[in-house]
Formats: sequence, C-alpha cells, structure tokens
Amino acid sequence: MRVAVLSGGRSSEHDISLLSGEAVAEGLEAAGHEVIRIQIEKSGLWITDGHPVEIRPGEGLAVDGDLVSLDAVFPVLHGPFGEDGVTQGALDTIGVPYAGSDVLASAVCMDKLTLKRLCGFHGIPQVGFVQAFTPGWKEQALELEFPLWVKPSRLGSSVGISKVTDRDDLDAAVREAAKFDPRVIIEANSPGREIECSVLGNEDAEASLPGEILTDDEWYDYEAKYTEGRTRIAAPADLDDKTTAAVRDLATRVFTMAGCSGLARCDFFVEEDTAEPGEAVTEPGEPAPGQSRILLNEINTIPGFTRTSVYAKLWEATGLAYPDLCDRLVELAIQRHKSASEHSF
Ligand SMILES: Nc1ncnc2c1ncn2[C@@H]1O[C@H](COP(=O)(O)OP(=O)(O)O)[C@@H](O)[C@H]1O
Ligand SMILES: [Mg+2]
Repeated sequence: MRVAVLSGGRSSEHDISLLSGEAVAEGLEAAGHEVIRIQIEKSGLWITDGHPVEIRPGEGLAVDGDLVSLDAVFPVLHGPFGEDGVTQGALDTIGVPYAGSDVLASAVCMDKLTLKRLCGFHGIPQVGFVQAFTPGWKEQALELEFPLWVKPSRLGSSVGISKVTDRDDLDAAVREAAKFDPRVIIEANSPGREIECSVLGNEDAEASLPGEILTDDEWYDYEAKYTEGRTRIAAPADLDDKTTAAVRDLATRVFTMAGCSGLARCDFFVEEDTAEPGEAVTEPGEPAPGQSRILLNEINTIPGFTRTSVYAKLWEATGLAYPDLCDRLVELAIQRHKSASEHSF
C-alpha cells in the first residue's frame, strides 16, 4: 500500500516527532509498503521532498498540482495541532483512512481535564484535581495532597509542568503552565510507580505487557525523557501476575471508554500496599494489604514511536515486532475508515 507518514508539526514536540516519523516510515517500508514522507513545518506548512503539499477537501493531498493516490495516512505527530484532533479533522475532510484515534478521542485524550472528568464519571481511580481559575480553585487546590502537580491541560513531554512542594509557589507554577495553555490542571500527588501499557486495536483492542519507567531524576521531566541514559524502561515491569493482569485490563477499558482507535499508550501510577501483613487498612481507598491500587495518569493517543520508545518496546516484549506493529496500524486505519463510512450523516 501507499502510506503518507506525517511528522514534525507545530508543537514543541516537533523534533521528537521527526524521529518517530522516520522510524515509522522505515518500519512501514520494512513491512513492504511504499511511503511518502510529509514533514509539517513549525509554521504549519506541509512539505514532501521539498514540495508543498496541498490539502484538498473532498479530494485528497496534492503535490505540484497533482493528486497523490494514497491508501492511508499515518500521523506521527505529538501535542497540539497533531495529536489533539486538529490534523485528524483535516484528514477527515480529505476522506482518507488514517492511523490512530479520530477527532473526538484525540481531543478528549489531549485535554487532561476532560479525560479526568470522563474517568471520574466512569469511576476510574485517579488522583484528585482542580482546574485553575475556576471559582474557589486555590482553596480547593491547597486541600489536595502535596506535592501538587501543575500542568498545562493540553501539552506533553512534561513541558510547562511544575512540582509544587511549598504552597507559596503555587501561583508562580500556575502562571508558568498558563503560558502554554489557558486551561491549567492542578493535581494531587501519587507516590506510585510509573507503569505504562501499550494498547493496539479498534473495538477489540489488546494491551501489551506493562512496562515501568525507572529514572534517577526526581521525576519524569523533559530531560529525563529525552536525555540518553537518564531513564530506563523495564519491559516488562516487575509486577505480580495479578497486578499485571489488572493493568492490562484497565488499559483496554480506558482506551475503549475514551473512544480511542488504533493505538494509545495508557500511563498509570501503581501504588503498592505499604501496610505490614495483618495490619488494618486505615484510609478508605487505600490499597488493602497485599493489593495495589492502579490510578490512571493519562492516555497518549500518539505516543513516542521510535523503535526504542516505550510504546514499541512494550509490544516487542509482548512478541510483536516493530514493522508488524506499523503494518497492523495501517490495517486498523483502513478497517476503521470502512466502518465509519457505513454511517450516513
Ligand atoms: N499527580 C502526579 N503524581 C506524581 N507524579 C506526577 C503526577 N503528575 C505528573 N507526575 C510526574 O510528571 C510526569 C509528567 O506528567 P504527565 O501528566 O504524564 O504529563 P505529560 O503529558 O507531559 O507526559 C509524570 O510522568 C510523572 O513523573
Ligand atoms: Mg506523561
């Protein structure tokens, strides 16, 4: 098949997306597909091989005035404009199958506040949170369990996030996050281990073995994510069978609940029981002795996608090789496009 791979994009994750995009392009080629590489510049221009790409609603993509026949598009874009439904909407106007989630699920998962509200509705365990600038927000935030985590609601790669240990630093942290997004979320702390799980599929999505983020840094910030040697990924994570099964089950549940398709990496905090054997559980909601509590942190609809990124590593640990993973996502894109076109509006 002929597949256009989109990478770059307008967000601060532009460079990371270029790496992921090239890896996917090579993966698809290894699986036998023909690949057209399209880079989205920071300005928003779409370029292939030095030529501007034109988006023609109802028709397709055109280069030098000629329509390019395509079987599918594979957006490998992170953050605003690429992962949040904006590009997905453009692809819908073209009418081409594309890998990953549709407009709605992309937008819901990009916005930490919206996803958390949806999860709250469905009773998915998560940390407490408050939206900054809403009535009474500061009093409510100061009642949450410290340290507080202050984040732009719709970004990634830990950009604009502050860990606030001193209540006097809350305002500055909120101002910092608001530089990136007027929607700011303040979260309670989770002391849990950072466990991630890759999900693949449409209606009957499957979850990979979970992995664990092991960093020597204080938390999984931008440097820890992208500086060589700062973070190790245990794939699979060292978890007991029961917790492993529970993480995988929760991952596919939240994937479906958020309406995702194709792929997503679901990130959790796993809080383990710290009580001595036989000791009574003191707090309601605390893990019972011998049990762990799994909290959803976030869902990434277009996670880092190099061969060594967590998403692909976890599939590899589960027995799915990188080219097969890329290939499967194209198949799923076509499948979803077909079932979506069965609905009339
Ligand atoms: N509520 C929290 N409790 C503990 N650590 C957190 C919390 N929120 C974020 N972190 C830390 O910050 C990192 C980035 O936060 P995350 O919400 O995943 O943002 P991003 O979308 O930028 O990846 C997490 O991987 C974790 O290390
Ligand atoms: Mg994250």
